[in-house]
Amino acid sequence: MLKLKASEAKTTKSKCDEQLFELAKDAMSKAYVPYSRFNVGAAISTVNGHVYSGCNVENAAYPEGTCAEAGAIASMVLGGDTVIKDIYVIGKGDGLVTPCGGCRQKIREFSSADTMIHICGPEGVRKSLSMEELLPFSFGPENLKL
Ligand code: THU
Repeated sequence: MLKLKASEAKTTKSKCDEQLFELAKDAMSKAYVPYSRFNVGAAISTVNGHVYSGCNVENAAYPEGTCAEAGAIASMVLGGDTVIKDIYVIGKGDGLVTPCGGCRQKIREFSSADTMIHICGPEGVRKSLSMEELLPFSFGPENLKL
């Protein structure tokens, strides 16, 4: 688990974004993907100024594999954080590596109106989306408050 105070690493906003991009890229290089050969990395910054990362981890029983976003979220919860400020997701290839449906819902659980999802390729950010753009009309914790 990687848990850093943002202030321990970089100070400016743009450098902070660069730090997250590099964390996601490093996570991507660690992915365990013997079946798809498709590495994905994710890095999260939280409203409390902590950062976490994760990679996809596949399994011989294919459905048991986990996505990079799920790994980063599990690390975040273990670190005591529950509100995502930014999440960077990175993969290779020409297409946008947008979070899968299940991961959209997982990110949604820990999002706010300000949460941003940054879709990256090895060269940098390709597209940035709000949670509402990524998962419109979503169901979340508020829906259970009757
Ligand atoms: N994958 C992720 O890690 N995140 C996503 O949002 C999309 C897909 C992984 C799962 C699997 O290990 C590989 O990419 C190919 O689907």
